[in-house]
Amino acid sequence: MRLSKLITSLPPYHFANAKQKILDRQAAGVDVISLSMGDPDLPAPAAVVERLCTAMQDMQNHRYPEYRGMRALHEAIADWFAQRFGVQLTPEQDILPLLGSKEGLAYAATSVLNAGDIALVPDPYYPVYVSGTTTPGAEPYLLPLTAENHYLPDLDSIPSEVIAQTRLLWLNYPNNPTAACADGDFFERAVAFARRHDIVIIHDMAYAEVYFDDFRPMSILQIPGARDVAVELHSLSKTYNMAGFRIGMLVGNPELVDAVGRLKSNIDSGIFRPVQYAAIEALHLPPSWLAERNAIYQRRRDILVDGCNSLGMQAEKTRAGLYVWAHVPAGYTSKDFTDWLFDQAGVFLTPGTNFGAHGEGYVRISMTESEERLRIALQRMSTVLRVE
Ligand SMILES: Cc1ncc(COP(=O)(O)O)c(C=O)c1O
Repeated sequence: MRLSKLITSLPPYHFANAKQKILDRQAAGVDVISLSMGDPDLPAPAAVVERLCTAMQDMQNHRYPEYRGMRALHEAIADWFAQRFGVQLTPEQDILPLLGSKEGLAYAATSVLNAGDIALVPDPYYPVYVSGTTTPGAEPYLLPLTAENHYLPDLDSIPSEVIAQTRLLWLNYPNNPTAACADGDFFERAVAFARRHDIVIIHDMAYAEVYFDDFRPMSILQIPGARDVAVELHSLSKTYNMAGFRIGMLVGNPELVDAVGRLKSNIDSGIFRPVQYAAIEALHLPPSWLAERNAIYQRRRDILVDGCNSLGMQAEKTRAGLYVWAHVPAGYTSKDFTDWLFDQAGVFLTPGTNFGAHGEGYVRISMTESEERLRIALQRMSTVLRVE
């Protein structure tokens, strides 16, 4: 069959391949410890599961759902946003519930970009920023994220001829894969840059609610004027351990929110209503639920960071996010090290280069396993690396 140029140029999605690799090794009897995907191992809140089940009993909920989500969900999101970020959103105009935030990334980019446009993609990046750019025929222009620049893109380094063609800036804080966070000063500069050059910002905040100690990641919509140029994606996947439910939301600039709603309704249908009711329940949970869950991740972070440092894989204590971004041991590339480790120890990490060329020299380690399993993984790594 002759397939389109688009699909023949699209690489396979790394984590779809990775899952198969793990299944093959498990079938061969290996006890694989996968610290690869950011797929929460902890359960969704009990009240959320209960609400999903009761909503399933109502036959009205078996019918096609509203394309743009239930009014009650819009209101719950607006209330949550106001409480969490102090920003008032208008429920119907500034909010669009999604089947997970991933689809929103692709739809928002498609709503902005034309063939020949440029999108600024900080590197390393969540791979959807590149596929979301190339799908409508636009080109990514990569902005290096390095330890030296605190994993913040240098917007002043972009040549004027590139800026002239640029329609979109992708941002993602807390960042996947580096776990870096951005402060108000950076967001202010990004919003001023976007306003000056008539560029749209898509800020991906999938990790907004995984944070440690007193740190609270901020929304770009807290910056005055941001709503004129920016949209932001949020997700219940990592926030409430609801990755399988598939629910997230796009918020911010009403024109772009409306455009994504139009595009989406031409391609898919709404979110299963029981999942919407479950999401409302989640958004009403007390802050103590998040505090307890984040304390679990914080203990895991400490085990992983201390463990990596003792193995010579330098890593820093993060303020937010689900990952540790660690150096690979001397003498390895990212890919060689992760392949070798999987082979020798059955521990599966993600090579930094999966997120772009600037990920070379690093691995991303996910905190989505129990403390006991993390200790076993580190022990196995220590054995194969022969560190006393
Ligand atoms: C940075 C980032 N954005 C978005 C997503 C998509 O999340 P979901 O579609 O489950 O909301 C992920 C998932 O891993 C992610 O890492």
